[in-house]
Amino acid sequence: MRFARALTVAALALAVAGCEKKQEPAAAGKQQAAAPAADTILIGHVASLTGEQATFGESTDNAIKLAISEANANGGVKGKKLALKTYDDQGKPEEAAVAATRLIVQDKVAVLLGEVASSRSLAIAPIADTNKVPQISPTSTNPRVTKDGDKTRPYVFRVCFIDPFQGTVMAKFAHENLKLKRVAILRDVGNDYSVGLADYFSAKFKELGGEVVSDQSFKAGDQDFKAQLTAIKNKNPQLIYVPAYYTDVALIGRQARELGFKGPLAGGDGWDSAKLYEIAQGALDGSYFSNHYTHENPDPRVQNFVKKYKDTYGSVPDALAALGYDAALVAIDSMKRATDLTGPAIRDAIEKTKDFHGVAGNITLDENHNAVKSAVVIGIEKNTPKYVTTVEP
Ligand code: PHE
Repeated sequence: MRFARALTVAALALAVAGCEKKQEPAAAGKQQAAAPAADTILIGHVASLTGEQATFGESTDNAIKLAISEANANGGVKGKKLALKTYDDQGKPEEAAVAATRLIVQDKVAVLLGEVASSRSLAIAPIADTNKVPQISPTSTNPRVTKDGDKTRPYVFRVCFIDPFQGTVMAKFAHENLKLKRVAILRDVGNDYSVGLADYFSAKFKELGGEVVSDQSFKAGDQDFKAQLTAIKNKNPQLIYVPAYYTDVALIGRQARELGFKGPLAGGDGWDSAKLYEIAQGALDGSYFSNHYTHENPDPRVQNFVKKYKDTYGSVPDALAALGYDAALVAIDSMKRATDLTGPAIRDAIEKTKDFHGVAGNITLDENHNAVKSAVVIGIEKNTPKYVTTVEP
């Protein structure tokens, strides 16, 4: 069902691209006018700047802007300046597909950055491939994002780890560090990332000898989770794994406490937002989530980035910011190394990315166009995230 939906969205986007050309005879002229000036390289970004995951898009876009202004201050790429065009997808896969098509067909971007969320990257990926414009996702962790069936998508890349690893990290942490035997899962069934991560966590936790006593579902945007949480509580789990995005997670945390559940909740990178704490109001204290990076890392590379980001935007960069920055750096570095600035040449250069020093770890792209990297576990104390440990792949 999920696969079918991704296909439908892709087909829709291709149809939109086709329609634009057919319906508007003047489109060719217009498109030319919209194309970047000869001395400018345009980078496209598809982001959730509004909606329930607005902080994802904001953080990523802020960091990409920082990377681009630094690259321009250092002379740009091949004698050209870089410019950024960002479209808001409101957190919707179908809007992400439309935005990607527009960036490619109308704005003629050299590279696409985004999306951060797997369901939306899955909607964009076939469009990048068809149009031969490279796509780099900063943080989409579902393994299928870079795959077309068994085949690696030639134009789709990511600079982060994937969920079979991320699910294992928290399953092991729950079983080995927290010494828990009985857990429950509450998953967002409309979200490829959530479903995938729930499955990987569940498989690993059982493999380690643990028991998944309840596995419940919801849909993003639901306000009332009490029925599922009551069913979960009746099975008496020691932990509830909620691999979802921050708005839903925070509400789930509050309602779990209202129902008297005292144990930890746990999740993945989708928890990472300042809004999580604002909405949860302490309900997630004692909980844990896996993530890509921590701003507490004393590495000067990280601390320089944290300082620059804070000076520019007035807040501590989250993992979305760190990886948005890294995705932009990899795009820029690849364009410098590319034999020319066509999609295929940039693609070839991205594919050769090796031991690139990003702020969220070193990036070497494997044959599936994924980066193999360590994860961190973050604990929540007094409604504040605190680094707990690093887990190597
Ligand atoms: N990994 C999530 C996904 O694939 C997106 C995400 C990454 C969200 C990092 C928050 C922080 O959907």
